[in-house]
Amino acid sequence: MPVHAPAALPFTPAVAAAPTQPVWDEALIRRYDTSGPRYTSYPTALSFHEQFTPSDLTQALERSNASSRPLSLYVHIPFCRKICFYCACNKIATKNTGLAEPYLTRLDREMVLTARHLETSRPVKQLHWGGGTPTFLSLNQMGDLIDRLDARFGLSSSPDRDYAIEIDPREADVFTLRHLQSLGFNRISLGVQDLSPQVQKAINRIQPRGLTETLMEEAHRLGFRSLNLDLIYGLPFQTEKSFADTLRQVIELNPARLSVFNYAHMPERFTPQRRINEDDLPGREEKLAILRTSIEMLTAAGYVHIGMDHFARPDDSLAIAQREGTLQRNFQGYSSHAQCDLIGLGVSAISRVEDVYAQNPSDLSRYEAALDQGQLATVRGLRLSHDDLIRRDVIERLMCDMRIDLAEVSQRWHIDAPRYFAPALARLQNAEKDGLLSYEGEQLIATPMGRLLIRHLAMAFDAHLPGQSGQRYSKIV
Ligand SMILES: C[S@@+](CC[C@H](N)C(=O)[O-])C[C@H]1O[C@@H](n2cnc3c(N)ncnc32)[C@H](O)[C@@H]1O
Ligand code: SF4
Repeated sequence: MPVHAPAALPFTPAVAAAPTQPVWDEALIRRYDTSGPRYTSYPTALSFHEQFTPSDLTQALERSNASSRPLSLYVHIPFCRKICFYCACNKIATKNTGLAEPYLTRLDREMVLTARHLETSRPVKQLHWGGGTPTFLSLNQMGDLIDRLDARFGLSSSPDRDYAIEIDPREADVFTLRHLQSLGFNRISLGVQDLSPQVQKAINRIQPRGLTETLMEEAHRLGFRSLNLDLIYGLPFQTEKSFADTLRQVIELNPARLSVFNYAHMPERFTPQRRINEDDLPGREEKLAILRTSIEMLTAAGYVHIGMDHFARPDDSLAIAQREGTLQRNFQGYSSHAQCDLIGLGVSAISRVEDVYAQNPSDLSRYEAALDQGQLATVRGLRLSHDDLIRRDVIERLMCDMRIDLAEVSQRWHIDAPRYFAPALARLQNAEKDGLLSYEGEQLIATPMGRLLIRHLAMAFDAHLPGQSGQRYSKIV
């Protein structure tokens, strides 16, 4: 990112009308297509440090009770029976279902050690099981895990709860869905990635459309809300035409939400990606054409581009929350739920509680060893400074609303926001000249092109970035 030495200029609002029509400027996208954080958190995980201890987390849990904020629980199930070559998630390849039992025991210890610092009256508004593949667990194990979560935290049966699970359609059937519904899940997300047989072969994920379709039909019949499908663009052998064919079929399937992730190819970090032949990957031009076609096809089909990789039907709660200015950014992407304290359970999981982030180790044996000694497994984290909290708010509003109301920020934080952020705003002058943003009074508004490059705009407000290497982040587009 072109971060120049910040000039401490006072803010002078340049009032300009935002372009109303999306203009696809390929040269501009290429110029801004650098690496950058996805801002599922601010500061990002690269700022976490190892002096942060389990007791820093438990103190934050206790401080957080004063707010009575609702809770959001994330449970990481790391196991996958078969590894997809593109995968950048924290997962363990195994066909041994016996591994799940000792893992569930450790999860339960972690829940006990966490819950004893929390007021029991705090409602669990959100629950998310991610992975890996949560449906690696047997039906009994899933039931058992829900019982333990309920015993430790008290789960909700309120219709406005948001209880979601990531499902690999190759690892689930209609019975799984019925069981999940009886356990209280009301939202599901299905991994699809691409429907072309040639692409599926190259990524080691053979998943005929029928598998996804049958689950979707059953999910609709059972009344699951906001069904999401994950797709990835930039995979081997994808072309604009082939991906358009996948999208045409996906649009027919009519999911309420769609994630269209940009393939993050970092074989130095993710070993399975070394099985992908780089010569088979679409070139930059082709990738941009795929992205452009995806946005055009999905918006023509009535989807709202929420931001980054996320699309939703206009009547879906994500799109409604965005229109109402109440959308939230979290580790899963976006959420329509008001800010909760997030408790991350399991290997690699991250908690966001009060003013801290706390992360568990990515290594299973290290995670299990800590819990066997009766301790929480936190290995890194961060307590946010007052400046971090202000910047987190601003970056989150930009990522969610595609605009920042500096007058509101001034009020909320008792600062003179234009002056406070003068260096950041000065850094954005080129982006303004290039038509990525405009101002209406004290509102900074991302234009349609700016929405596409929203990470770039957010990076201007990131005070931690100058000390970090861009190499560890994925490409913006
Ligand atoms: C934990 S997986 C979803 C659940 C289940 N394991 C499955 O694959 O169906 C989360 C999602 O991350 C996305 N993903 C994984 N690796 C990625 C990468 N390298 N670049 C972009 N997206 C990726 C995929 O779309 C995948 O569906
Ligand atoms: S994409 Fe899902 S199923 Fe494939 S390896 Fe990653 S976590 Fe496992």
